[in-house]
Amino acid sequence: MSNPFEIVSVNAIMVLDSRGNPTIEVEVETNDGMGVGIAPAGASRGKREAVDLRDGGKAFGGMGVQKAIESVRKYIAPAIIGMNSFYFREVDRAIIQLDGTPNKSRLGGNATTATSIAVINAAANTAGTPLFEFIGGRRARILPTPMMNIINGGAHAGNELAIQEFMIVPVGADTFFDAIRIAVEVYKQLKNELKTKYGAGAINVGDEGGFAPPMKETREALNALVEAIKSAGYGEGDVMIALDAAASQFFESGDGVYKIDGRVLSPGDLVEYYSGLVDEYPIISIEDPFSEDDPAHFAELRRKVAGKVLIIGDDLTVTRASIISEMISEGAVDGAIIKVNQAGTITEAEEAIEVLHLNNKRAIISHRSGETEDVTIAHLAVGYGTGLIKTGAPARGERTAKYNELLRIEAYLGGEAVYLGKKAFF
Ligand code: PGA
Ligand code: ZN
Repeated sequence: MSNPFEIVSVNAIMVLDSRGNPTIEVEVETNDGMGVGIAPAGASRGKREAVDLRDGGKAFGGMGVQKAIESVRKYIAPAIIGMNSFYFREVDRAIIQLDGTPNKSRLGGNATTATSIAVINAAANTAGTPLFEFIGGRRARILPTPMMNIINGGAHAGNELAIQEFMIVPVGADTFFDAIRIAVEVYKQLKNELKTKYGAGAINVGDEGGFAPPMKETREALNALVEAIKSAGYGEGDVMIALDAAASQFFESGDGVYKIDGRVLSPGDLVEYYSGLVDEYPIISIEDPFSEDDPAHFAELRRKVAGKVLIIGDDLTVTRASIISEMISEGAVDGAIIKVNQAGTITEAEEAIEVLHLNNKRAIISHRSGETEDVTIAHLAVGYGTGLIKTGAPARGERTAKYNELLRIEAYLGGEAVYLGKKAFF
């Protein structure tokens, strides 16, 4: 009898991401099931991330993925057909070996990511279990505390905010359902207030579904959040604030300074700047507060805000276990963002999560600013019990797809579902 998990076919086509750019969708068939994976795409990418294979040239402004499709059809498919998808890590290893580069530049990070996601989905489908359960078994029951980006700046918006993401975190909710309800109420409140204050144009949304109002300064955005939280009827015990500075984007490498709020700050000044914000606002975490080449200042800020605010790496750590270990030993981070396509395979993302958890650090499963209807990350958050997810505002279909899948998982788990709220951070 043939093995139900045996990979029998692998195919790839082009689909579009949420910014209207081409991306790659891979479909993997086993003897007894199938799975699909679609690669997302970032706009503020770290230097050490896996790189996508793009066609260049005129079509799609150079963003075409025919080369990545070729890479799946010509190289990856022949290497993994006949393999056992149940052992998805072995399949990923074969892909990693075939690529042979540190950043997936031969096969393309988009090709390897979509394939790896398709393989694990095919394995779960063949097993007849939801993906989160295939990964985490009966132990998987923690719904993540969502970090929801509702004001967009930086590379995700056309305004002057240097900081890329202003997130609300429903820390005081009792269930994931409740967290979504609270977040939606605050989001709607913010929408009304922005419209009144800045006019109808201010409620257009950025890439991750947050509003992109014509604000100039960090405090303007933070005040708007605090106001919306308050007028929705909540306080600090219910909803806190998380920031993703994505500081490499406003770092001027020539002069070694940061341009923020119309000012020019040295790294030391920026430490003071963040400390000031932390004293004034209910901030629970700050991601990428400094450039990806400056772990020393991550560590300095981390020492200053210890016990109160978590310092998180993203461009700094790029979902690579070895870099994460290094950053932990340098005292630079309390946790890291996990993006499958920064690494290029599920297996490598899993190793990154394990290094974090074994060191009692936080792993935050994350979307990219260019997303699709693929909901795999919702399952990764529950399957690996990270307790934390970043997947945008409760708006735009590619963002709500993830929240909706988490609501389904919560309903499926029934009374066994757990929501940790603030305890997922500290
Ligand atoms: P990106 O940004 O997906 O545009 O790279 C997301 C982030 O920095 O967290
Ligand atoms: Zn980030």
